[in-house]
Amino acid sequence: MAQEPRILRTKVGIIGGGPAGLMLSHLLSGAGIENIVVEKNDHETIRNTHRAGILEAQAVRMLADSGIEGRVLSHGDEHSGIDLRFNGESHPLDFRELVDATVTLYAQNEIFVDLAAARARDGGDVRYSCEVTEILDVESNNPKFRFTDANGAVYEVHADILVGADGSRSFARRQMPQSTRQDFKVSYPFAWFGILTEAPKSAPELIYANSPHGFALISQRSDSVQRMYFQCDPNENVEDWSDDRIFDELQRRVAGPDGFELKTGPIFDKTVLGFRSFVREPLSHGRLFLIGDAGHTVPPTGAKGLNLAFADVKVLFEALDSYYSTGDDTLLGGYSQQALKRIWKAQNFSYWMTSMLHTPVGTDPFMMRRALGELDSVTSSTYGQQYLAEAYTGWPNS
Ligand code: PHB
Repeated sequence: MAQEPRILRTKVGIIGGGPAGLMLSHLLSGAGIENIVVEKNDHETIRNTHRAGILEAQAVRMLADSGIEGRVLSHGDEHSGIDLRFNGESHPLDFRELVDATVTLYAQNEIFVDLAAARARDGGDVRYSCEVTEILDVESNNPKFRFTDANGAVYEVHADILVGADGSRSFARRQMPQSTRQDFKVSYPFAWFGILTEAPKSAPELIYANSPHGFALISQRSDSVQRMYFQCDPNENVEDWSDDRIFDELQRRVAGPDGFELKTGPIFDKTVLGFRSFVREPLSHGRLFLIGDAGHTVPPTGAKGLNLAFADVKVLFEALDSYYSTGDDTLLGGYSQQALKRIWKAQNFSYWMTSMLHTPVGTDPFMMRRALGELDSVTSSTYGQQYLAEAYTGWPNS
């Protein structure tokens, strides 16, 4: 016989306890707005999920202003530029000089650890290993969702507002009626092969390389751990790649007449990351609101994913705060439109960076030369560099 669910009452029910869901929960609790977070995975799984590591200044400020320990400030690495490498030559872009802004390298799983610790410290109600099975009544003033915990106990969360923060395979997103929604997407004929290696830094800042053999990104995690990626086939099998083969592939993509050489070391993590651009419109239906990857996904070139998720959190938090302090739901009604403005700018930027830097297998030689012409146009002009720098470091609030 089906179990009678135990009822939990709250103001905001958040489905998904990744960085976006936890950040929203943290801000809401700080404003005295009760909330519950329900997350499918266990703490360890999320902690070990490696994602991009670049934070815009606005995201750093959100973490710092909301009192998330300050580890991002003490352990994050401020970067004032990137190197665009093509035709085997380096083209450094200095963001500080170009647009008076910087970014901070701080791994997304560290942000999760910081947010989860802050929620635990502040007595936040965050439940891991809990699977949401049903979302109900989102068109009413009493939306609900059901979930089953790790012991099989069934609960029903009754809230004023529900938030889907459950990532790119969002369950919440699928509950919105087909007749009122539109999905926009692009798929790409390549993926990224990502590694973590115990090696010293190869360069002081990130290198984005276009080469006839495909794209490579040389990123970092610390003085002794580095993160690198190279463009690969989406069906690539990590087992087929020895450490030597991986470094040979990376090296030939960054090689040039300047003799630049990667510093190598043992590889302890290998993953293939899929590529997709996706946007759901609108980002809300009735009393259900989507934030972060649940509502939109970008390819990782340009590292906009988490930054966009935090931008959504900011807009939604301000709307919820206004709703709970004045009873006026105008800002909530405008959430989707407001968030989508930045989302589409970031979609354009991520698509642009991806197409300019990658070489799909079998690319027409014309298209390869065209991409090099584009890279040259950007790097040889102050305006071009500023355009990229402003987008990379994050547009002022919009
Ligand atoms: C990373 O360090 O993982 C990273 C950095 C920049 C990107 C993507 C990933 O554009």
